[in-house]
Amino acid sequence: MRIAIAGATGVVGRHVVAAAEARGHDILPLTRRTGHDLERGTGPSGSPLAAALDGVDAVIDVTSVQTTAASRSRAFFTAVTGNLLRAERDAGVGHHVALSIVGIDGADASYFAGKHAQERLVAAGDVPHTILRATQFHEFAEQVTARLSLGRMLTPIPVGHYRPVSAREVGVRLVEVAEAGAVGRARDLAGPREERLAEMVRRMFAHDGVRRPVLEFPLPGPYGRASASGALRGGADADRAAITFDEWLRSADHTPIGERADAAASARGARADGPRARG
Ligand SMILES: NC(=O)c1ccc[n+]([C@@H]2O[C@H](COP(=O)([O-])OP(=O)(O)OC[C@H]3O[C@@H](n4cnc5c(N)ncnc54)[C@H](OP(=O)(O)O)[C@@H]3O)[C@@H](O)[C@H]2O)c1
Repeated sequence: MRIAIAGATGVVGRHVVAAAEARGHDILPLTRRTGHDLERGTGPSGSPLAAALDGVDAVIDVTSVQTTAASRSRAFFTAVTGNLLRAERDAGVGHHVALSIVGIDGADASYFAGKHAQERLVAAGDVPHTILRATQFHEFAEQVTARLSLGRMLTPIPVGHYRPVSAREVGVRLVEVAEAGAVGRARDLAGPREERLAEMVRRMFAHDGVRRPVLEFPLPGPYGRASASGALRGGADADRAAITFDEWLRSADHTPIGERADAAASARGARADGPRARG
């Protein structure tokens, strides 16, 4: 199959690419880095998105925006989903696969507001679709630490009870879903064990040799309540992935914090070197 992957460079997108390639598919990455701005709805050099999707059998959408503002999240997911669905219809793509989040039904707020808007658009659209909901990734511990840490002094972490899953296994499942054809709503995918977010971060720090206090705090509002209540763990009927948080921590899928800081610093250095080298 020819599969377009929207958000191919992201945390789960990279695993979708690897899984699709391992299963012999021809892949088309769609990200701003490849010249596709899905929020604007344009392909390379401003060309129509539909032209890029010529010959594509399925689109897997794993784009995301970093925000806790409901308005920004809604605007992003509404624009990206609308632009993709229009281009898919024009190009004759037969299957749109969207990744959403387990247990968000009672929390149409904050980041989740965009996921609700995305699910509604996909379900009402005229492209045959499948929505897969997964729980928080093990990688969420890295993402939330990078976003919330107050330098090296303190990492405040909201109360969260999850059943986290590896982004690797979500990537494989998304490709299986794309291969299987449109079913509307796929079975939820959850991780093997229940975890508390602050404990995940503490174990990650211990593994990475980081000595920094983690302060757990209750996040107000519907997003915080959904995280704290355990609603995001999924039901007993969810499919269970195999890789535990501790197995993931010891695997090559986890980059220890020091190495990530080094990589970020050398990327900043490379950017700083660029203009000097040209000038
Ligand atoms: N993180 C979790 O724990 C979790 C759990 C369950 C479900 N999900 C869902 O999984 C999806 C992916 O999450 P993630 O954490 O993997 O995201 P991520 O790491 O933040 O990656 C986001 C991807 O979207 C692309 N992107 C952003 N804006 C774009 C634009 N205007 N045009 C084209 N591409 C754009 C980025 O590439 P460029 O920057 O190069 O454009 C990147 O490839 C999200 O829909 C999220 O709701 C996440």
